[in-house]
Amino acid sequence: MNCTEELLQQCQMLIQRAQSVCVLTGAGVSKASGIPTFRDKDGLWNSMRPEELASMDGFLRNPELVWEWYTSRKLVLTKVNPNAAHEALVRLENSNKDFVLITQNVDGLHARAGNKRILELHGNIERSFCVECHIFYNDVFFDKIKRILPKCIACGGRVRPDVVWFGEMLPQDVLDQAINAAQRCDIFLSIGTSALVYPAAELPYYVSRSDATLIEINPERTSLSGSVDYYLQGHAEVILPRLCPDR
Ligand code: OAD
Repeated sequence: MNCTEELLQQCQMLIQRAQSVCVLTGAGVSKASGIPTFRDKDGLWNSMRPEELASMDGFLRNPELVWEWYTSRKLVLTKVNPNAAHEALVRLENSNKDFVLITQNVDGLHARAGNKRILELHGNIERSFCVECHIFYNDVFFDKIKRILPKCIACGGRVRPDVVWFGEMLPQDVLDQAINAAQRCDIFLSIGTSALVYPAAELPYYVSRSDATLIEINPERTSLSGSVDYYLQGHAEVILPRLCPDR
């Protein structure tokens, strides 16, 4: 099924009528802001090695390299802005529904756009913590984005980004809230994610109300596409403003 005008109108009406909306976003939502995805042709994991840059083993082997890579990603964030997809999701939250936005993105763009009910499954690139004593820091504390690996002010330990790396567990309380939101919603939107990384990828399968509608927005089909009620083929920054218009 392609993204026809008729499908868009049906989905817009369903969203308007919904009492409880749960949204899951992935890297595709931030692409129009200028942030690369992970698994597209020009995605980060096509030119970089996740086991070196996004694992605790990689960090312990070469913390400077990992820190430098996250610093360069943070510098990109200082130059970009939320796009029309982020803005449409703010309108959706402000439309007086039970609303939860679950994101795999660590870029903080949903918060910058103005969403409030955000569950960050994979952490946030602007926070860090000491691997020894687990004190948390944010970039404001470090005053400016540091290229040199900082030392913990409390114990001198190495400080790492507060993002979930390969082989690590998601924060359980955040995951529990995400599952709960999926179970109670009457609309679940999966947007801009390849639906390959678990446990995020299984959240749509927690949708359990018999009257619930599952909608996917993605220019490419994913492993989820065959299980949704509406697959809207296209870019989030184009389709979302149609589903959640500014009026
Ligand atoms: P991926 O890079 O795996 O998938 C991005 C998806 O976005 C693809 O399915 C694209 O087709 C789609 N896409 C591209 N442009 C789009 C657009 N303009 N609008 C809508 N969709 C678009 O990214 P994620 O699914 O987010 O984990 O990846 C999940 C996790 O894998 C990430 O959170 C990250 C990564 O390893 C960690 O860092 C822990």
